[in-house]
Amino acid sequence: MKKNKILFFVLIAAGGFTALQSCGDKRAPGRTYMPDMQYSRAYEAYTPNSLDKEGINYIPQPVEGTIRRGDLLPYKVPNTPEGYVQSAQVKNPLSLPLTSAQMSEAQRLYNINCAICHGAKMDAQGPLATGGKVPAVANLTTKVYVDMPEGTMFHSITYGKGNMGSYASQLTREERWMVVEFVKRTQLGGAAAPAPAAEAATATENK
Ligand code: HEC
Repeated sequence: MKKNKILFFVLIAAGGFTALQSCGDKRAPGRTYMPDMQYSRAYEAYTPNSLDKEGINYIPQPVEGTIRRGDLLPYKVPNTPEGYVQSAQVKNPLSLPLTSAQMSEAQRLYNINCAICHGAKMDAQGPLATGGKVPAVANLTTKVYVDMPEGTMFHSITYGKGNMGSYASQLTREERWMVVEFVKRTQLGGAAAPAPAAEAATATENK
């Protein structure tokens, strides 16, 4: 019985001591018990490298020089005035002409992402342009844009230009090239693509 009492007091004392210790510095985050359980390895991409200190080995960004399976090679021309000039030499890497499914998909993507400013007919009559929300929207039916090389168009929608933002995060490289091809075809009177067909949905599977 006596032994039990002693054990009891020892436990209380130890508990109190631990409690006091953990309240020591309120600003310190404290130590993580079993960090592997605290932070999941698989899904916390883009977590700051500071977790390396905890012995947690994240891969915050894709390894330099790697691309997703099925993806186009990265676009290396820099977002500089020289890069803009250089972009004129860049050719569409997709195999042309696009299939009718790809064209329908490109038209769908154009209508979603571009028509709000450039208009369904590419004549700068989109609601944001006519409503005055976005000034100086390019009329893609005019000569300067009809003559514009596809590479320059790709460059501008990749990095943005003037009042137009970048589409690099909304559209994959492949989709951007498809949209550029759609714009070019339409400009050259190559009649807007056939009405979107059900098959269009399969065209983006390989994103
Ligand atoms: C928010 C409105 C807006 C949207 C949406 C938009 N644009 Fe633009 N776009 C502009 C404006 C404004 C300019 C003129 C930029 C300049 O020269 O200052 C422009 C210019 C362009 C040019 C000419 C670029 C150059 O180098 O002069 C192309 C090509 C173009 N847009 C294509 C697209 C495509 C394709 C999309 C959809 C992926 C798109 N735009 C979406 C507003 C928009």
